[in-house]
Formats: sequence, structure tokens, C-alpha cells
Amino acid sequence: MKAAVRRRYGSPDVVEVEEIEEPSPSDDEVLIQVNAVSLNSSDWEFLTGTPAYVRAWGLLRPRYKVLGSDIAGRVEAVGKSVKKLRPGDEVFGDILGCWGGLAEYTCAPEDSLMLKPASMSFEQASAMPQAALVALQGLCDKGRIQSGQRVLINGAGGGAGTFAVQLAKSLGAEVTGVDSARKLELMRSVGADYVIDYTQEDFTKNGQRYDLILDLAACRSVFDNKRALSPKGSYVAVGGSLARILEVLFLGPLLSMGGRKMGILGAQANKGMARMVELFEAGTVVPVIDRTYALTEAAEALRYLGEGQALGKVVVAVCEGGDFHKR
Ligand SMILES: NC(=O)c1ccc[n+]([C@@H]2O[C@H](COP(=O)([O-])OP(=O)(O)OC[C@H]3O[C@@H](n4cnc5c(N)ncnc54)[C@H](OP(=O)(O)O)[C@@H]3O)[C@@H](O)[C@H]2O)c1
Repeated sequence: MKAAVRRRYGSPDVVEVEEIEEPSPSDDEVLIQVNAVSLNSSDWEFLTGTPAYVRAWGLLRPRYKVLGSDIAGRVEAVGKSVKKLRPGDEVFGDILGCWGGLAEYTCAPEDSLMLKPASMSFEQASAMPQAALVALQGLCDKGRIQSGQRVLINGAGGGAGTFAVQLAKSLGAEVTGVDSARKLELMRSVGADYVIDYTQEDFTKNGQRYDLILDLAACRSVFDNKRALSPKGSYVAVGGSLARILEVLFLGPLLSMGGRKMGILGAQANKGMARMVELFEAGTVVPVIDRTYALTEAAEALRYLGEGQALGKVVVAVCEGGDFHKR
């Protein structure tokens, strides 16, 4: 089968599409013909080997040669202990523990997959797992969002941010989206009431107060973020600079002793997907896909993601109706 393979850490230049052996499922796994895979920051981190903690999965050379964890495809074969899925089922999910999505076939435990609704394309399904669930878990589970709240989403023009804006609006919040200038229109189009270009304005210094801040691009100190919270407001750090995330981890509990709360989201793979599917089917939340690449263009797709250019999600379409994409 064809796969986008890399054997060392580095830039997208280390990725090459080549023929490798098709994987075979263990007892609790299914073999999936991959139709689409969306890229996440984790793909970039595991590609480049930075930040350093990803080297726990291969100090000098990466353990996983094929990246790609948010997949959608069709079940080809099932292992002996698989109970729910059958060959022919259309599935999607986050297979972060296994990787291997940037390939024509991959294997994953059946528990990491759910049935794809017919109304959702494979590309849309692949765009959902990490990004939609970071938004859901960050706003609802950790942030306990309430209707009528003033919610700020930092990094609102990216993969998770575009889901978060739609979700927060659907839950009755007044939403401010923060991102770079070229993403202002996108943030408005998915429902943001107010938008801020972070290169022009620091939301922690403009005198506004928010009931909930979902920070997908943490780059300001916890003290600055605390200042932007209303007296009972919550700050949820999701991603961004490792130094800032560690700051929230260690200082957040101390700073949460007044009325405000400051903490980190540790997202759980695939938790809450059924709810996101319902919102998709109701037309409330729609994945924003910026570009779709062919598998042969996997390196370009990763480069585009790494440059931070993407307006929403970047998808690699591997095969459609059995015909593999080629350009
Ligand atoms: N905590 C968890 O369990 C968990 C799980 C999954 C993912 N994550 C993390 O969640 C984060 C968001 O994921 P994603 O897929 O949405 O990433 P993404 O698509 O790269 O989006 C991040 C957005 O933040 C913007 N941005 C960069 N610097 C900014 C700044 N200083 N102020 C405001 N916005 C800024 C980027 O735009 P520009 O590049 O144009 O500036 C981009 O639009 C990532 O860091 C990821 O690692 C965390």
C-alpha cells in the first residue's frame, strides 16, 4: 500500500510517499481503508520532534513512521475479538495512540472509532475528532459554559477554534474571537460577535472582562489572562507555548483561590463525539476545511499546517470510492 512515511525527525522534506506493507489487525483492532485524514498540531510536533516531550516516543528516531491520527474510512477486516464493527462500516475517530492515518490502510482498536453518519462526508468526519472535541471538552466539561456568558476564544481561526466559536454561539454565549488579521473574516463567518487581531490588540489590556476564556494559543502570562476574567470567570488553557501551559499548571491552582478559575484541559480522545455528531446533523456545527490535499502531497499539507496558514482544518484525502487521489 502507499503511505506517507518519515524515518527521522525534521521538516516536511523528510516525508516521502512510498510502498510499504499493509498492516494487519490484532484481535481487538479493525483494518480501515482510509478515505481522509485531517492534520493537527500533534502531527507537526511528532514530525519535527519538538517540543522535546514527544521524543518519549522515540528519542533519536521516531517510533511512528506514518503520521495521521484523525481518520475517516471504511472497515476492511476485523480482529477476532471485535464485537461492534463489521467490514463495510464507515467509521471515523482519533487513533492518536496508533497513528498511521496517512496511508491507504491503517489499523486501530474498535473502541477508538464510531460509525460515520451518512450525512457527513469522509473529509468532514476526519476534520472532527481532535478539533471538535477540544472545543466541546474545553467549553463544556472544563469551562462549564453558560448561556449569556461573554466568551473569548484565543486562536479562534484555527482547527479547534472554528468549532469552538460555533459551539459557544449555539450555547447562547456572546463570542469574541482572537486570531491573526487574515482569519478575522473567517471568525465572523462562523458566528463570532466580535473579533480581535492579536497583532494589533492585546485582549488582556483592552479593559474588557470575559466569563470564560478558551485559550488555544496560550502566549500571555497567567496574570494577564486573570486580569481579563470577570470576578467569577474561568480560564481554560488548551494549547500554545509549553512554558505558558506549565505556568497555568503550577500557578493556576493558586490563582484559582479567589472567585476565578484557571486550569488546563487534558482532552480525552473521542469523548463527546456523539454529541458533536448530533450538532453536525442539526446543522449547528460544521467543520471548516481550508484545503484538501492528495496523499502524494502529504508533505505539502504538513508544511501548510506548520506555517500556521490554515483557516480551519487541513485534510488529506487518501481515497474516495476506491479510487486513490492523484494529481
Ligand atoms: N490540551 C489538550 O489536550 C489538547 C488536545 C489537542 C490539541 N491541543 C492543542 O490545541 C491547540 C489548538 O489546536 P488547533 O488544532 O486549533 O491549532 P491551529 O489550527 O494551529 O490553530 C491555532 C490558531 O491560533 C492562532 N494563533 C497563533 N498565535 C496566536 C496568538 N498569539 N494569539 C491568538 N491566536 C494565535 C493561529 O493563527 P496564526 O498562525 O495565523 O497566528 C491559529 O489560527 C494546539 O496548540 C494543540 O496542540 C491540546
